Amino acid sequence: MDSQDVLELIRTRRSVRKYAERPVEDALVDQILEAGRWAPSGLDNQAWRFVVVREPGLKDRVAAFTRYAKIIQSAPVIIAVFIHKPSMYNEVKDHQAMGACLQNMLLMAHGLGLGAVWLGEILKNAEAVRETLQVSGDMELMAVVALGWPASGKEKGSRKPMEELILARHGR
Ligand SMILES: Cc1cc2nc3c(=O)[nH]c(=O)nc-3n(C[C@H](O)[C@H](O)[C@H](O)COP(=O)(O)O)c2cc1C
Repeated sequence: MDSQDVLELIRTRRSVRKYAERPVEDALVDQILEAGRWAPSGLDNQAWRFVVVREPGLKDRVAAFTRYAKIIQSAPVIIAVFIHKPSMYNEVKDHQAMGACLQNMLLMAHGLGLGAVWLGEILKNAEAVRETLQVSGDMELMAVVALGWPASGKEKGSRKPMEELILARHGR
């Protein structure tokens, strides 16, 4: 694998919020879950857990808990990503690991040519989403990933210039 390919994948990933009618095969969803599964975690505790929802009625019920309802309703697949609370050992580090898991999933989706978006606003109703999905109280919702085949061309995306980000370089 070429390191430039990795950077290209990272740079060209955009949040995709509009999806084509085309169905998404289970095998592709499985690859996205596999990418999440291989994220790093503190103490290797692997606290991520996933719920995949394709069923339109259930998707609509989840959608009702966010102002981004349209994204969830129009996505052929959503993946609710939970943290298994009994596995946790350090709040910050466990949440960082969940971020790594989610980013792995987004990058895998992009690598497959799929479009995905990380939905966090729905966390204001995390408990209601958990109950709607009939997930045990041992779990806490971390995000919902909506995904499908992108409906339109890529947006450009922008980032702060590097000079703003590097606070110091000590030594050479
Ligand atoms: C923690 C987190 C929460 C987010 N929540 C939402 C959300 O609720 N709705 C949404 O449309 N996008 C959401 N996003 C996507 C961001 O808006 C997006 O990543 C950012 O604007 C940069 O654009 P890009 O992903 O295309 O590079 C979220 C991203 C992260 C990392």
